Amino acid sequence: MSSWVITGVSRGLGFEFVRQLSESSSNIVFGLVRNKAAVEAKVAAEIGRENIHIIQADTTDPMELEKAAQYVSEKTNGAVDYVIANAALQSKTALVGFDTMSRDPKALEQDVIDHLRVNTIGAVHLFNAFMPLILKGRAKKVIAISTGMSDPEMTLKADIYQATSYAMSKAALNMAIAKFSALYREKGVLCMAICPGAVDTGSLNIETEGEGQLAMAMFGKFKEYSPTFQGPGKTDDSARSVLALVNKATVDGGYAGIFLSHTESKPYL
Ligand SMILES: NC(=O)c1ccc[n+]([C@@H]2O[C@H](COP(=O)([O-])OP(=O)(O)OC[C@H]3O[C@@H](n4cnc5c(N)ncnc54)[C@H](OP(=O)(O)O)[C@@H]3O)[C@@H](O)[C@H]2O)c1
Repeated sequence: MSSWVITGVSRGLGFEFVRQLSESSSNIVFGLVRNKAAVEAKVAAEIGRENIHIIQADTTDPMELEKAAQYVSEKTNGAVDYVIANAALQSKTALVGFDTMSRDPKALEQDVIDHLRVNTIGAVHLFNAFMPLILKGRAKKVIAISTGMSDPEMTLKADIYQATSYAMSKAALNMAIAKFSALYREKGVLCMAICPGAVDTGSLNIETEGEGQLAMAMFGKFKEYSPTFQGPGKTDDSARSVLALVNKATVDGGYAGIFLSHTESKPYL
């Protein structure tokens, strides 16, 4: 039996990770969410498997994460094999650059803080809360879902000025993974950040014509970066490919502390 802890499973990639992993009765999957009742109902209606446990935990709240770890520990005899920090904030400020954001410096500052709180610090709290269980697990894998947008090389190749706070928070997440690896690699723990590619999860929640135009401008930049880019890929394909890399990657194989695309090669898109 392998145990998996995944944050942000209410929708998108997180929900798909739960769906795919729960297909095997040799997995037990713990999904951390902000609205337990709603996600339990969705999981029951759309997946309906008994090896899934939905737990209330906002990843910005270390106490809720500690309680989640306690719950998991009681179900798994104190051990966890895999932790995946998938929950993330990606606000509509992703559509613009610092020039637009500079019109309201306070809002800019708050936007950076909000992204860091969820995308970086939330993952750090998650890893700290579950590390005692990971150290007792067999697989010992700690994964952060990152993004190619965090890579200066991708940014500079096509002058991708958008997604400022989001990209900075994920670059900091990649460094957090390196720091966790520096602490725990010798104890056999693989800590690794993975970009899932561009995925059609609707995470940007485009509502207006203006937002649609800004999104098209960003996709134009993606195409400049990667001329073969045809638009966001399917959620199930991306989740499958991320999980394949999670299964393959090992400390001895040279994956400790690094950030990689799910395809293990660039471009990310
Ligand atoms: N989609 C892409 O193209 C793409 C590309 C590169 C990287 N990624 C990364 O892949 C991961 C999944 O992306 P996605 O597109 O599936 O995202 P998504 O559809 O926007 O879902 C985000 C998830 O994070 C949860 N979340 C947000 N803040 C939280 C908090 N404070 N505590 C707990 N959960 C919280 C959301 O829960 P609620 O329902 O409660 O809001 C939701 O379940 C993210 O890390 C993202 O950065 C995505």
